[in-house]
Amino acid sequence: MTIDRIVILDFGSQTTHLIGRRIRERGVFAEIVPGTTPVRDWFDETVKGVILSGSPYSVHDAHAPVPDEDVYGLDVPVLGICYGLQITTHLNGGEVSRSETREYGPAPVQVMTRDPLLEGVGERFLSWMSHGDAIRRLPREGREVAGTTHGVPAVVSIPSLRFTGIQFHPEVSHTEHGGMILDNFATGVCGARRQWSVADYRLRLEEQIRRQAADRPVLLLISGGVDSSVVAALLLSALDPDQVHLMYIDTGLMRKNESDEIGTALKSLGATHLYLVDASRDFLSRLEGVSDPEEKRRIIGDAFIDVQEREIERHVPGDYFLAQGTLYTDLVESGHGVGSHGATIKSHHNVSSPLVKAKRDAGLILEPLAELYKDEVRELGRILGLPESVVGRHPFPGPGLAVRILGAVTRERCDILREADAIYIQALRDSGLYGEIWQAFAVLLPIQSVGVAGDSRAYGDVVALRAVVSRDGMTADVYEFQPSFLRNVAAAITNRVPQVGRVVYDYSGKPPATIEWE
Ligand code: XMP
Repeated sequence: MTIDRIVILDFGSQTTHLIGRRIRERGVFAEIVPGTTPVRDWFDETVKGVILSGSPYSVHDAHAPVPDEDVYGLDVPVLGICYGLQITTHLNGGEVSRSETREYGPAPVQVMTRDPLLEGVGERFLSWMSHGDAIRRLPREGREVAGTTHGVPAVVSIPSLRFTGIQFHPEVSHTEHGGMILDNFATGVCGARRQWSVADYRLRLEEQIRRQAADRPVLLLISGGVDSSVVAALLLSALDPDQVHLMYIDTGLMRKNESDEIGTALKSLGATHLYLVDASRDFLSRLEGVSDPEEKRRIIGDAFIDVQEREIERHVPGDYFLAQGTLYTDLVESGHGVGSHGATIKSHHNVSSPLVKAKRDAGLILEPLAELYKDEVRELGRILGLPESVVGRHPFPGPGLAVRILGAVTRERCDILREADAIYIQALRDSGLYGEIWQAFAVLLPIQSVGVAGDSRAYGDVVALRAVVSRDGMTADVYEFQPSFLRNVAAAITNRVPQVGRVVYDYSGKPPATIEWE
């Protein structure tokens, strides 16, 4: 990569990935590196500035992550956000006190002195804070550039270190002018050029794929989601289609008509080696009687591995490369690679199956999307000519309907959920709402509820509808429907799916709820 870069050292904050996005959104390439990585492993002349992220740690914790101290001697500007400011203060002769209560939420900031970081933000703006520790004394050469109305230093400058620190979080949308502050840092303070675009990146990716794969076969396991479809399109565009092997495993846990649609889409991309495997019996028999969500995930993960091994052995020649649709946020959420301090929230994401591990160890893995965020992947898909119906598709979890059927999974319950879900999704498409929503789906609950059927009481299944808006799935807000929309969908489901007697709407945001119910 020969374009200007801003390197973000990640100390495990849940919002680190947003710092990268905000900067890239404005055309500067930003990259996240685990916070304690030695400088020599990531620094070169393309790095125009460094950002130290926030962290769940206190600087006083025994295992508090510490950046390589050479960071302060690189002669490029350094920006510390929250923990990044505190650890810098702590390491450079200032004092940070542990506080009993966490300051969390909005805080007005008053600018005291002009600073290039705050160019264009005005005298006063609203910031968003989330910190426990607080700065008690600044390092000797530190000066306060802005403070909160409660007297907390909000922006601090230490010119001898080329360091600026901010106590609030400019990366979250609740901070006014947050994107502008990060852009001021990247382009104004660091002088990084706006050289990042997905269209250029596609050309570099294709070159890289050709160089890496040379003339070896490349296998991609297709889930039908946006990410693997984009990788498929990218491989078919970069390589000789004869090198590209695409395998889709129908687990029986897919949405209505999904498997057929995927087959059609892949054929139209020019795939020649396409293996569509119906393994629904395998998966459903292994899931019989299992209700625990993590157990379901484990069984499905194992079944994937067994079916994959069998089918790969049967179809794919020799020492192939394995391509994966892993995204930046997958790595962050799984606590792998980037964000090595990040907590694993659920055992999702295929980042560490034995096949992937073996291929990684053998240097035979291609993860072309690993530097991209979801919206960048969608943009790449459009550039590669994928239809909107694929590119705009809502995310779907690897374990499929198994984590949307609470309790035991049977083929019959899958069919009930598939029908209810299809009615809901079609209604969203018909009303033009599908594209406004990050993810919408139906969930089949493990309870029965009473209703009336003719003159008698009848017990029927309960379906919950979920719809959330989100930028990347890490946090999510409930989508606010017009009541008539929900009423019509509920009526359509109970009319057309006889087993369902009641439909409810889930009004929980993430956090505290997750997007999926299991
Ligand atoms: P949660 O439910 O954790 O979901 O808020 C965040 C995003 O991840 C998806 N998800 C999964 N994806 N395997 C996957 O591949 C899983 O086990 C899994 N669980 C959740 C979820 O659909 C949402 O987009």
